[in-house]
Amino acid sequence: MDTKISASILSADFGNLESELNRAEAAGCDMIHFDVMDGHFVPNLSYGVPVLKSIRRCCSLPFDVHLMITDPLDFIDAFADTGADHITFHQEIKADPNEVIRKIRSRGLTAGISVKPKTPVEAVFPLLDKLDMVLIMTVEPGFGGQGFIPETLDKISLLRSEANRRGLGLDIEVDGGIGFNTSPKVRNAGANVLVSGSYLFKADDMAAAVASMKR
Ligand code: DX5
Ligand code: ZN
Repeated sequence: MDTKISASILSADFGNLESELNRAEAAGCDMIHFDVMDGHFVPNLSYGVPVLKSIRRCCSLPFDVHLMITDPLDFIDAFADTGADHITFHQEIKADPNEVIRKIRSRGLTAGISVKPKTPVEAVFPLLDKLDMVLIMTVEPGFGGQGFIPETLDKISLLRSEANRRGLGLDIEVDGGIGFNTSPKVRNAGANVLVSGSYLFKADDMAAAVASMKR
């Protein structure tokens, strides 16, 4: 599977979002990753619907929305209305995952589920046939710029083996501490969608940083 890079704007300059999006697009990123936080599921707040709505016209790349929120069902319509292409929600919330997946798909978006570093990846196995993507968190969700947790590599390999065993072309996304050093490790384990925030947006030459992650 080809490696895709999803640029996390959490590390972008929010005073210049349009030019930051243009920079990511020109650098060869494949999608834009949005970390939506509610101060409840994770101990931090970020941004939400109005921001996505305003910047949708500035960028032609797919919008990959990562909902780190307790009640995704309440917000799927609003995010779908912004023109988002994909929504990932968390396994650890209370809502029925089947209902959340159905709701996302009913709006014509692709659906993903995410597991935090301490959640066993087997927890999402019963849902695999209904999902487009599984996001393996490679740091504790909530903040950019953290160090990659190496113990998550085994979860990626286990998930890729299970997807292959079932003949599923599942996207396996990783998020947190991904850059030049960690990309080969997660790709060898079976990840094909790499989220990166600080490594990409702090790079002087973002195109070179993107190429280094795909190599
Ligand atoms: C954590 C976020 C981060 C972020 C990635 O909740 O999901 O993982 O987008 O940021 P970096 O690449 O800086 O670790
Ligand atoms: Zn994320």
